[in-house]
Amino acid sequence: MKKKRGIFGRFGFILAATGSAIGLGNLWKFPYITWHNNGGAFVLIYLASVIVIGWPIMMAEILIGRKTQKNPVPAFEELGSKKWSAVGWLGVTTGLVILGYYTVIAGWAITSFTKCLGWSFSGYVKPAAGAFDNFTGNGLLQLFLSFIFSVITALIIWRGVKKGIERTTKILMPILFGILIYLVIMVLSLPGIDETFKFLFTANFADLPSTAILESVGHAFFTLSLGMGAMITYGSYMSRKESIARNAALVVFLDTLIAIGACIIMFTIIFSVPAVRESVSADPIGMLFVTLPNLFYTQIPFGSTLAPIFFILVGFAALSSTISLLEVLVSFLVDKFKMGRHKATVVAAASAYAISIFAALSLGAIPFLSKLNIFGEGKDGVLSTLDHLASNWMLPVGGLFITIFVGWFLDKKICQDEVNLYKTDGSPKLSYKFFRFLIKFIAPLAILAVIIAVILGQDFS
Ligand code: PHE
Repeated sequence: MKKKRGIFGRFGFILAATGSAIGLGNLWKFPYITWHNNGGAFVLIYLASVIVIGWPIMMAEILIGRKTQKNPVPAFEELGSKKWSAVGWLGVTTGLVILGYYTVIAGWAITSFTKCLGWSFSGYVKPAAGAFDNFTGNGLLQLFLSFIFSVITALIIWRGVKKGIERTTKILMPILFGILIYLVIMVLSLPGIDETFKFLFTANFADLPSTAILESVGHAFFTLSLGMGAMITYGSYMSRKESIARNAALVVFLDTLIAIGACIIMFTIIFSVPAVRESVSADPIGMLFVTLPNLFYTQIPFGSTLAPIFFILVGFAALSSTISLLEVLVSFLVDKFKMGRHKATVVAAASAYAISIFAALSLGAIPFLSKLNIFGEGKDGVLSTLDHLASNWMLPVGGLFITIFVGWFLDKKICQDEVNLYKTDGSPKLSYKFFRFLIKFIAPLAILAVIIAVILGQDFS
């Protein structure tokens, strides 16, 4: 008899999958890469990438998961062959790598929150120059923060699909949307808003760096949690009554909405303070954790209320992503090695934390680890290396194989039945034909272009 498997209830899938997609990729990475790619035209290309690549691959992953009701490794074994299960193995490994450094950055949200809370109550004190470097260089603190984040994630996963993931994301996601909408409304009255809209929504292709197309494709994978089986795993818990195409479209839409919302909030604050623009341009990576807290307290009406709230948002967004990363590992151990869920949770979380130790100590605490940057320059050693490895290689390669598998190898009937976009006369709808065209030709070709560009030296991380 088949073991009973968790199934998401109504809205369960959409909330969990949106939670996985929305994370540091939206709040930290997207504003920063949009900034250094000069806005408008980049945003347009990014939108095209999530529609023609993100949407079909999201559908492909969900359909593999829902058809087999299994984790990526046994799922590929069942639908393809033993050889195809290598794609699943790559996905699980990628999950381990991403979780290994993601909890470190997520841990920063905890400190930013507690710091802001302190400032809100007892007054803002401008941090000394180099304070952030001292913070990241404090090895014990970094270990502690990523440990806390890993434990919170593990506790949720421990409780299972319905009681853990579904219940948590049902609470987190509406709060997250609420906070974001509130912040967007608050910044609407700031003087920088006009410039922000101009920056984001008027496309000037002359300003577009030549690498932007490829960067947008690479980011589409990361931000939509694609290419490593997170959506296969969540798809395996999706009820048969739900529409794959509609759910995938909604996740892509909401993820994009939050990314644009984050840009509106951050850029408006930055544009409202003339002197800040230059300093941000010099170091856009620190936008979220360094520039923003300072601006909240010195420039923004109600900033002292908004600042801690904002970092709750960052923490929640990161948490709903680490949940999905850990679930991929746990379901793998459960499905493949018949491990009990609790034991699997401990083993998976401990393995990821073992990687986090190296990432956490590579931010200045141990010089040897800080210098361990296999892919070239960069001061964050192991952490940058892991991010580079995952974003530039593992996700696009995984994604490429997923499109090839669904587009060219998977039985057409299985694909069509699972997606289930039929007209009343039994022929496939136009939307299905569009999906097939994207998954067979456009998506693999675009990813191949990215991989070739990576080989030629383009960095997406
Ligand atoms: N999508 C998440 C983000 O934007 C990161 C992530 C990648 C989560 C891959 C799960 C799998 O932050």
